[in-house]
Amino acid sequence: MKINILTIFPEMFRPLRESMLGRAEENGIIEFNIVDVRDFSLDKHKKTDDYPFGGGQGMVFMPQPAFDALKSVGAEKTRNIYMSPRGRVLDMELALELADYLRGGNGAEDVAEGEACKVASTALRKASRDLTIFCGHYEGIDQRIIDDWKMEEVSIGDYILTGGELAAMVLIDAVARLIPGVLGEENSALDESIYSGLLEYPQYTQPREFEGLSVPDILLSGNHKEINLWRFRESVRLTKKCRPDILKAFLKDHRERNNRELDKAEIEILIEELGKKDFDTFKKHLSDKEAKLLAKVLEKKRK
Ligand code: ADE
Repeated sequence: MKINILTIFPEMFRPLRESMLGRAEENGIIEFNIVDVRDFSLDKHKKTDDYPFGGGQGMVFMPQPAFDALKSVGAEKTRNIYMSPRGRVLDMELALELADYLRGGNGAEDVAEGEACKVASTALRKASRDLTIFCGHYEGIDQRIIDDWKMEEVSIGDYILTGGELAAMVLIDAVARLIPGVLGEENSALDESIYSGLLEYPQYTQPREFEGLSVPDILLSGNHKEINLWRFRESVRLTKKCRPDILKAFLKDHRERNNRELDKAEIEILIEELGKKDFDTFKKHLSDKEAKLLAKVLEKKRK
């Protein structure tokens, strides 16, 4: 499982060799192949950009050094990404899809090898795959690089960076931590919140009292059921306040996301915490069992 990174600033990727990702590479889980595209320039000054045809501001990345660098890493066989502010915005769904691709999961086939791969043996399908990320600069890159190498454009947000390197680092970090073995055993990539799909609840550690600030009593109670419910409530509150869009998605698809139905105590919390509009969304997406629990709780509240 290799990530080829094509850049004219290879030094910017030094931090990849630190921390969790550095350890993952040392342990042979993932390999980072950082390639200096300038090395492939045939120009005597190692130039990689030129003026845009048709005029206009800025410079454009030339196809020759890019094509040769892409050939050198075998990018005709890899899924190729061009970091660009006009691309699909990176989110958890895309990060999971890319991690699955790297592991040779099912999401990989269509993109990497087309129809032929669908009939390949399970063993072949499970083989790990490589990803190639191209970091642009200047006003952009010659469109033929994107078209001929079937590059998917990926953005890390609606703002413009000076180049694709920092964006590539963000993408790599978000994807690599989803590869089994990259995070230490004590961490689970998808377990930030027990109620996956909501923002993470507040965390506290030692000491119990710090400069007059204390830890919520419930966390010291040892009652794990109550602690989990407190965390669920905090997650719901935070998500409602900071990311109402995420809360709405959770209300619609929590069952598929977490592979289980909500229990009575959780439904009670949602009744108390949701506004009218969210509550209507919630009601519309309940399973039969959840709907019965909801009716029971509401009935009890009425009494
Ligand atoms: N290159 C420049 N800006 C970018 C962004 N927002 N996302 C990805 N690549 C970029």
